[in-house]
Amino acid sequence: MIEKITDPEFDWFVTEVKKKLDLDLSGYKPHRVKRRTDILLRKNRTDTYRDYMKLILSDEDKKEEFLDKLTINVTEFFRNPEKWKALEKKYLPLKLKETGPRLKIWSAGCSSGEEPYTWAIILEQLKASQAKITATDIDTGVLAQAKDGIYGKRALESTDPAIVDQYFKKLDKERYEVKPVLKTRVMFKKHNMLQDPFEKDLDFISCRNVVIYFEMETKNVLYQNFVNALKPGGILFVGSTERIFNYRKLGLKVIEPFFYQKI
Ligand SMILES: C[S@@+](CC[C@H](N)C(=O)[O-])C[C@H]1O[C@@H](n2cnc3c(N)ncnc32)[C@H](O)[C@@H]1O
Repeated sequence: MIEKITDPEFDWFVTEVKKKLDLDLSGYKPHRVKRRTDILLRKNRTDTYRDYMKLILSDEDKKEEFLDKLTINVTEFFRNPEKWKALEKKYLPLKLKETGPRLKIWSAGCSSGEEPYTWAIILEQLKASQAKITATDIDTGVLAQAKDGIYGKRALESTDPAIVDQYFKKLDKERYEVKPVLKTRVMFKKHNMLQDPFEKDLDFISCRNVVIYFEMETKNVLYQNFVNALKPGGILFVGSTERIFNYRKLGLKVIEPFFYQKI
């Protein structure tokens, strides 16, 4: 069910965001968008959505702050490690055997890069040097961080220390940089999964901890688009709080929790 908000000023704001910032918020949960926008209005001491719109259009930092707050970027390497183990031990070796070495992988909503670099680490471990990883996000700020590849210790809390030694250069007590062998494996680009066209014939899509912000209807369309973008037998890897209830209707089967395979 779609939650409704009856506030013409807020409706006006959402329409302006679409026109002026080229961001269509209609698929996002409206109460969440409103709550977050209202916090920013107060923080920036603006009284109305019109004043706040003026501010974000005239100040690039404030615009970034708005886009940032709306699309939380929390992430880490090997988030839910047991799922990455399953990929490394089962699903990737199987796919490499079935399909050959040129796998196509998409990390959708990749934030600052921890997820696609985790893919890259696993592929390195499997010596799958021809697999191609595309990583996308709507937020150019996080994509710039991803390309820099510099992370604090917290991002590596779920990562095996031996992997840290192998694939990261320690810059100082707090910061680590991913080695070029990983950087060259991932192609980062800006992409809005609710608006922009998808690549086709993918073997794996990971879209994790993103759809929680979307309305049910938007989620269903998005999942259908993911299915269309996968090859038959391709796998969709979702976040650990995200179940796809109508997976059969979408042409998927569950291979284990949070991994769905296109039939
Ligand atoms: C919580 S992070 C998830 C990062 C990573 N996938 C993970 O699970 O650790 C959610 C990311 O989704 C991105 N995002 C939100 N809406 C998006 C959209 N419409 N298209 C592409 N990315 C989007 C945000 O910018 C943010 O970086």
